[in-house]
Amino acid sequence: MNRTSYKELFNLEGKTAVVTGGLGILGKRFCAGLAEFGANVAVVDLDEKRTKAFAQELTKHYQKKSIGIACDVSSPSDVKAMVARVVEEFAEIHILHNNAASKSADLNAFFAPFEEYSLVEWRNIMSVNLDGMFLAAQAIGSQMIKQGKGGSIIQTSSIYGILGPDQRIYEGSYYLERKINTPAVYSASKAAVIGLSKYLAAYWADKKIRVNTLTPGGSESGQNDVFVKKYSARTPLGRMGRPDEMVAALIFLASEASSYVTGQNIVVDGGLSAW
Ligand SMILES: NC(=O)c1ccc[n+]([C@@H]2O[C@H](COP(=O)([O-])OP(=O)(O)OC[C@H]3O[C@@H](n4cnc5c(N)ncnc54)[C@H](O)[C@@H]3O)[C@@H](O)[C@H]2O)c1
Repeated sequence: MNRTSYKELFNLEGKTAVVTGGLGILGKRFCAGLAEFGANVAVVDLDEKRTKAFAQELTKHYQKKSIGIACDVSSPSDVKAMVARVVEEFAEIHILHNNAASKSADLNAFFAPFEEYSLVEWRNIMSVNLDGMFLAAQAIGSQMIKQGKGGSIIQTSSIYGILGPDQRIYEGSYYLERKINTPAVYSASKAAVIGLSKYLAAYWADKKIRVNTLTPGGSESGQNDVFVKKYSARTPLGRMGRPDEMVAALIFLASEASSYVTGQNIVVDGGLSAW
């Protein structure tokens, strides 16, 4: 019987993937998933030592060469240098996971009430969450066009890019001993990511570059019990996500398994957005 090996469609052997925000709670899982399916991974994040150490761990564990690159995705010169470094190492780039997002160095400014939110902080977050995706997509998309073989770009949004946060879940909610909420700039930046993905999907379709959004729901990562309970109660599956549960959707979007999928948003949220 002459038929496609469906399993083979997920194989990323011989591919190079760039993951921004690769040291994050989800970022590390995304890098590991891509490496396990055979890709060489460029782990891109702010801290040089930690990106290199994590890349070494990946190389050792998955027997695929990974490299760590320090890069502030909001800086055009950093992004340019990062892409040059990946090309120098691997010659080509096939997958970009635009995934970095900033929680800001100043958490008081980040979590400030909307009425008092500073324009400086708004721009600061936008410069990473949105401008950073623009810069990386522009640089790596251009590289993919030069290579002439297409590619796959995946951009991480958030459930709060498609829904407004229910403010009731924040009463008594803490994360790492700090009262939490979701600032408007986060929602606005994550909604914009979906628009950017759709635009680029249409714009680069003729170049065979597919562009999709991956939208995670809230993952459990140290929030207090009050938050976990309130968030879980709002979710049809009755619980928060686990970071590992976001990875399979990425592998699908990164690989040939999704060869006819572009401009879409895969929402991995335990059904939160379904009711
Ligand atoms: N964890 C969740 O529950 C959740 C839910 C919905 C969406 N998301 C989204 O998923 C993505 C990954 O989330 P995460 O939980 O791993 O976040 P995280 O905060 O743990 O990691 C984000 C990473 O981005 C890096 N980063 C910040 N600014 C940067 C910059 N200027 N240049 C390069 N790197 C920078 C940070 O150093 C960090 O390692 C983010 O886009 C986030 O908004 C996460």
